[in-house]
Amino acid sequence: MSDTSLTRRQFLAATSAAAAAAAVRPAGAGPGPTPAPVRPVAVASANGLAAVKLAVDQMTGGAAPVDAAVAGVAIVEADPEDLTVGYGGLPNEEGVVQLDAAVMDGTTMRAGAVAALERIKHPARVALEVMRRTTRILLVGEGALKFARAHGFPEENLLTERARKIWLYWKENAAPKDDWLPAASEVDDPDLKWFITKYGDSMFRPTGTIHLSAVGPDGAVGCCTTTSGLFFKLPGRVGDSPLVGCGLYCDGEVGTAGGTGHGESAIISCGAHTVVELMRQGKSPEAACLATLERVVANTRVAWLKDATGRPANNLNLYAANRAGEVGGAALFSGSRFAVCRAGEPARLVDCAYLFKKG
Ligand code: GLY
Repeated sequence: MSDTSLTRRQFLAATSAAAAAAAVRPAGAGPGPTPAPVRPVAVASANGLAAVKLAVDQMTGGAAPVDAAVAGVAIVEADPEDLTVGYGGLPNEEGVVQLDAAVMDGTTMRAGAVAALERIKHPARVALEVMRRTTRILLVGEGALKFARAHGFPEENLLTERARKIWLYWKENAAPKDDWLPAASEVDDPDLKWFITKYGDSMFRPTGTIHLSAVGPDGAVGCCTTTSGLFFKLPGRVGDSPLVGCGLYCDGEVGTAGGTGHGESAIISCGAHTVVELMRQGKSPEAACLATLERVVANTRVAWLKDATGRPANNLNLYAANRAGEVGGAALFSGSRFAVCRAGEPARLVDCAYLFKKG
C-alpha cells in the first residue's frame, strides 16, 4: 500500500508522446513496506474520509460490505460542499442535476445501478434497491425516477444556489457567439470565487465522484460509486460510475475496485473489471491499478484526448482492495490521494501511486 510517510514507488514523468510510452514502466525506488492486511477495511476516493470510517464501523457492527459502502457514500451525497456528488452536484449543460450510481455485492455477484436520475438525493440507495428489488441491473432517466418514487424516495430540488451560479457563469462564458452575457460583477460573487480558487478558471470541466470499496471481517467484498458526473455534461451523458465493470466491480473470490475521474477513459478500458482481473492473476491492489492505467494510456489514441506532450489530457484515479484486506490506489498523474480506514485505526489520506508527474 502507498503511504505518505514511506519511500514509495513512483513513475517517470514523460515529456513527449514517445516518452509517454516508456513512462508506464516503474522507475526509481521500489514499493515501501506494506502494512499487514487488516479487516474490515474500506478504501475510497479522497472525498471519502468520513465515508470509509463509517463503512468500517458498520462492517464491524455486522453490516454487509455493500450496505456499509452505500451508508458511507451517503455522507457525501448529502453534502452540498461536494460539487461532484448528489445534492449540490454541478448540473448538466441545461442546468439540470442528473446523478449516476451503482452498487455491487461480491458474494452474490449481483449489482444495481441508476443513471441520469433527477431529483433524488441518494442515488446509491436507489441502486441498492434495484439490486435487491428487481431482477435487472441498470435503470435510467425517467424509468429510474419512477422506480425511486415507487420505493418511497423523496423528490427534491438538488440544484443549490451555489451550483446554479457556477453553472450560469460557465454558460455565459462558454462561447463568444451565443446570446448569453456575463454580469460585470459576477466574478466578485463569493461562490464563484470559491469555485475558481478550488478548481481554476481555464478548463472549467474538472471531474469528481466518490467510489468506496469495502472488505468485511470475513473477506466478503462490496462496492459503490456515486456521482453527479462531468460538470456541465451533455444532457443524458452517462459516465463510468453506474456501469458495472467500468466505475466499479468486485468479485468475492478476489477483491473490489473502482474509479473516479475521466469516465470515458474508464469505460473504454473497462477500468474496475480490469483491476479485479489483474488482482485475480496475483497482482497487489496498487500494482493492478497501475497496470490498468497503463492500459488506459495505451488506449488513449486520438489527439483531442492527449495533452501537448502526448499524455492523456484527463486524469483517472483507481482504488482497490483484495479480499485479504490489502488496499491500494493509483492515478495517471501525481498529486491524487485516496482515503483508507482499517479496523481499529483512524481514517487517513494516502498518496496514490502514479504514472506521470503532473506538469
Ligand atoms: N467518473 C465520473 C464521470 O465521468 O462521470
